[in-house]
Amino acid sequence: MKKSINEIRKTFLEFFEKKNHKIIPGSSIIPKNDSSLLFTNAGMNQFKDVFLGKKEPIFPRVATVQNCLRTGGKHNDLNNVGYTSYHNTFFEMLGNFSFRDYFKEDAIIYAWELLTSSKWFNLPEEKLLVTIHSSDKETYNIWKNIIGLSENQIIPLKKEKEIFLSENFWKMGNSGPCGPCTEIFFNNTQNKEHQNKDILVENNNYLEIWNIVFIQYNLQSDGSLIDLPYKSVDTGMGLERITSILQRKKSNYKIDLFQKLIFYIANQNNIKDLENKSLHIIADHIRTCIYIISSGVIPSNEGKGYILRRLIRRALRHGLKLGIKEKFLYKIVPYTIKLIKKFSNGNMKKKEEIGKILKLEEDQFLKILKKGIILLHENIKKIKKNILPGKIIFSLHDTFGFPIDLIEEICKEKKIILDYQKFNQLMEAQKIQSKKSKKFFFEKNYQTFKIKPTIFLGYQEKKIKTTITNIFLKENSIKKIQTLNKKIILILKETPFYSESGGQIGDTGKIYNKNFSFLVEDTKKNGLVTMHFGRLISGEIKINANVTAEIDFKKRKLIAINHSATHLLHSSLNIVLNQKILQKGSLVNEKYLRFDFLYPNSISQEEIKKIEKIVNYKIWENLNINCEIISFKEAKEKNAIFLKNKQYTEKVRLLSIDNFSHELCGGTHARRTGEIGIFKIISNNSISANVCRIEALTRKEALLSIQKKESIFNKIKKNLKEEETKIVKKINFLLEKNSYLKLIYKKYEKYKIKETTKKILKESFLIKKTNLVIYHLNEKKSNFLNCLINNLKNNLNSFIIILTNETNKKISVLVSVSKELITKITAVEIINFITKEINGKGGGNKENAQGGGIKPKNNNFFIKKSKKWILSILESKIKKHK
Ligand code: SER
Repeated sequence: MKKSINEIRKTFLEFFEKKNHKIIPGSSIIPKNDSSLLFTNAGMNQFKDVFLGKKEPIFPRVATVQNCLRTGGKHNDLNNVGYTSYHNTFFEMLGNFSFRDYFKEDAIIYAWELLTSSKWFNLPEEKLLVTIHSSDKETYNIWKNIIGLSENQIIPLKKEKEIFLSENFWKMGNSGPCGPCTEIFFNNTQNKEHQNKDILVENNNYLEIWNIVFIQYNLQSDGSLIDLPYKSVDTGMGLERITSILQRKKSNYKIDLFQKLIFYIANQNNIKDLENKSLHIIADHIRTCIYIISSGVIPSNEGKGYILRRLIRRALRHGLKLGIKEKFLYKIVPYTIKLIKKFSNGNMKKKEEIGKILKLEEDQFLKILKKGIILLHENIKKIKKNILPGKIIFSLHDTFGFPIDLIEEICKEKKIILDYQKFNQLMEAQKIQSKKSKKFFFEKNYQTFKIKPTIFLGYQEKKIKTTITNIFLKENSIKKIQTLNKKIILILKETPFYSESGGQIGDTGKIYNKNFSFLVEDTKKNGLVTMHFGRLISGEIKINANVTAEIDFKKRKLIAINHSATHLLHSSLNIVLNQKILQKGSLVNEKYLRFDFLYPNSISQEEIKKIEKIVNYKIWENLNINCEIISFKEAKEKNAIFLKNKQYTEKVRLLSIDNFSHELCGGTHARRTGEIGIFKIISNNSISANVCRIEALTRKEALLSIQKKESIFNKIKKNLKEEETKIVKKINFLLEKNSYLKLIYKKYEKYKIKETTKKILKESFLIKKTNLVIYHLNEKKSNFLNCLINNLKNNLNSFIIILTNETNKKISVLVSVSKELITKITAVEIINFITKEINGKGGGNKENAQGGGIKPKNNNFFIKKSKKWILSILESKIKKHK
């Protein structure tokens, strides 16, 4: 009987449990503490630090079922989905892992037993093929001699210049744990033998089902490989794929889970052709979107949110292709969740919540999509030589907001090429233009538009009812607007939004009524007018509309708290530094505060501590923060702090924190100092002559910063295995010891160079008064080679020196030729000859050259060959000269 997807998952885990593996849950699809990945892309992600040797494994053998996304970065299947039958943007990966326990042999034996034993998956052995890394003889022998595969079933993939460029070298991203791998393929054809030995590309005929990675290196971002302290195994098998094979279906989209989903979507939308690729894409994408939204991501223009947005938009576009003209994705959510619960893994968010998010995105995008597609098709009809001009791409993208990836996809289907060069030029020009026009608007006096000053109500109110008096699109005054996501400026009669001033950033929030919703991204002043910068996210905005204006109050509260903390800081500075400190600038936002001031000396750590202490004591006294409008004269009499070069009106706003601080200020503030919670200075620098800058945190940010520092300290403590009170002493001791060891090492190195030089010279040989030195080393420090070659040069008159050095299966080469010989042979000629032999590259000049490549199989042979070649050149040149 054919197994269901649930049974297959269970069987996999049972098998590995029997082989003493601990079954543990997969991790979240949002990677924790790993900024190198947007989404979890493999079962091994959660074990990254264990592979790297940074964390001890809790169990030596583990098996998991991992929810994975491959929608971007190193592993991106997005563009394959719908075009092959075996790719999904979301899939479950079955994996067994060994941490410093079994290695190649057992990993291969286990995989083979599970796949082929009649007790388990019972796949016919002759239907399986394997690929191996071309340098991996050990794996070849295991497949051949232990498993007993025929030579035709084992395919070493084509050699690449660098070991890690091979198809059979797995890496999770541009850095991190990695290693050679062996992949098991299923032959979906009737052919008994696979013909082409160098390529086994996965396609619908040959299906990669299991990847077994022998993790042994740490790939550095510069491309170099460092040996890991321990060898480990990481394997991964796509559950949907193995299910398709075990259920004898020739596509992932035909397995139980997808068949039901595809049938439902087709039925709901009156689609007859169940084989249609667009239907498959929608089924794949809706499932992925549900997982992504359930993990807390919402559509946006960057990172994870952008991936989600792309998936939704791509699904909508394929809906249109199928003739679905209205929003429909949100309607499939409840049924898809039901299927996910029945067939898969995952904690789903409430279906209503997911539906709402999808519906909103569909609402916003469907109009743009329909219009864009019509325009694109009209333009495609007119194009010549199958190239879509950059101007059209630009106008579709910039004016209509049509996403580039959809333009690309539609053109790819029609085999049309995009003129990116022109498109990029136009984008660049537009950027410059928009910078200019922004400036222009700011310079323009609001009186030109006869705008009345905005009444600011934001000291007391966070949400008010008011009227839109003006709408600006770039610098043009307009009466209404429907275009979504364009930068617009709204002017209101009254506003609760604080506009950027006195260092305090502008408020954000929303302006809306039942017809539209506008996101305020920034608020700035132009004369006495408040400008609300932002984007329309739904509906239509009309001038004179009655609206609700509502600030992001949570954010505002944090800003206000930081502003009050800045006043406390200023007064404390006066006390600790014993003078009236003059403010030079400040920045106050929801995350931190920055205060620049005139002070000719640097501030000591002791002074910083005193300042922190005073500010925190004032916080704990929970002082009242009051504001009153008084005359400038009165304020001066109260000794209030004010800016020396600012013009104040006759009536001013005096902000007082009890009797501790009096400052003229237009900003928004906490009501009592207790709201500030904690105050912590995080930096203290001189930013120019006489100007100091202090940066500080309050509340949660301050706590987080203290905790972060504490955990660093704890790590140091743990690593040094030392008590808290003795740590400084220990560090000093280690530093001293380190300088001493460095000194000894330098001496040793000098000695080593001297000795190696002697040894090399002994082994060099003289041909017609020329010293030919070819010497092979195994040195980790590249500097050693440079010193060595210089030393050799100093000891010789007429020479050709070739030093080869082997590290990590790579070889680097230094060549030096003395001046009088370069008419016969040059260093560059030699490096070119050598690097050709080792599949690498090099360069330099006539006297000195260097290069690198892959370590040759037979070093002696390679050295002999190089020697022979040089001798033949020298001899032929000498003969010619005669
Ligand atoms: N990490 C490997 C892969 O994703 C094996 O699990 O293919």
